[in-house]
Amino acid sequence: MSLTPDQALAALRWRYATKQFDASRKIPADAWKALEESLVLTPSSFGLQPWKFLIVENSAIRARLLPESWNQAQVTDASHFVVLTARTDLGTADIDSWITRLAEVQEKSPDDLGPLRGMIAGFAERMSDGERHEWNIRQVYIALGQLMATAAVLGIDACPMEGISASAYDRILGLENSGYATVVACALGYRSEADKYATAPKARFSSDQVIARL
Ligand SMILES: Cc1cc2nc3c(=O)[nH]c(=O)nc-3n(C[C@H](O)[C@H](O)[C@H](O)COP(=O)(O)O)c2cc1C
Repeated sequence: MSLTPDQALAALRWRYATKQFDASRKIPADAWKALEESLVLTPSSFGLQPWKFLIVENSAIRARLLPESWNQAQVTDASHFVVLTARTDLGTADIDSWITRLAEVQEKSPDDLGPLRGMIAGFAERMSDGERHEWNIRQVYIALGQLMATAAVLGIDACPMEGISASAYDRILGLENSGYATVVACALGYRSEADKYATAPKARFSSDQVIARL
C-alpha cells in the first residue's frame, strides 16, 4: 500500500509546527499506537537505536516542564507529549545488547554476528565520549522526523520543540546519571481553531535553492 505523490505532499503541506492545540481533543488509542510504533521503527546507524522515548502522561510532570520550555503551552495542552532522549555513550554493553537482539530476530547465534560486532566496536572506539553522544543525538533527530511525518499522514498535528531546557528536563524526568539525556521534545494532538499559524503560508526556499543536480 502506498500514498500517491499528491497525497504524500498534501500531508506534508498540511502539517505545520502547531502553536495552539485544542486541549479537549485526544489522539485515539489506535493512532497513538501507530505513532509509538513509528518511533520504534526508526532507522539508526548500524541499527543501534541509541535512544529512549519518554511519553509524559502525568499532567503534574508536564506542568513542571512548562516553565522549562519557555512557557510554550503545547507542553500542557497537546494530547500527548514525547521527550526524545539519546544514550550519552555507546559502549560494549550497548553493542552487545544490540547484537543479542539482532541474533534473536535473525535466528542466529551472537557468535555469527561477531564480525559485525567488531566493526561497530571499532567504529565507536575511534570516537571520543563527546562524539559518541553527538552521534547518538543525530540518530534521535531521525526519530523526530519520522514521528512528525507519520503524524502528518495520520492527520495528527505536532510541534517539534527544541525551545526547552534539556538539563532541567533531565532533572525533572529523573534522567541524571541514567545514561540518557534529553535531546528534543514533540507535542502531538489536534490544532486549535484559534491557531493562526495553521493558515500562514508555508515559507521555504525554492527547490532550485536547496536542491542541486550534478
Ligand atoms: C528541531 C526543531 C525544534 C523546534 N523547536 C520549536 C519550539 O520549541 N517551539 C516552536 O513553536 N516551534 C519549534 N520548531 C518549529 C519550527 O520553527 C518550524 O518547524 C519551522 O519554522 C517551519 O515551519 P513549519 O514547521 O510550520 O512548516 C522546531 C522545529 C524543529 C525542526
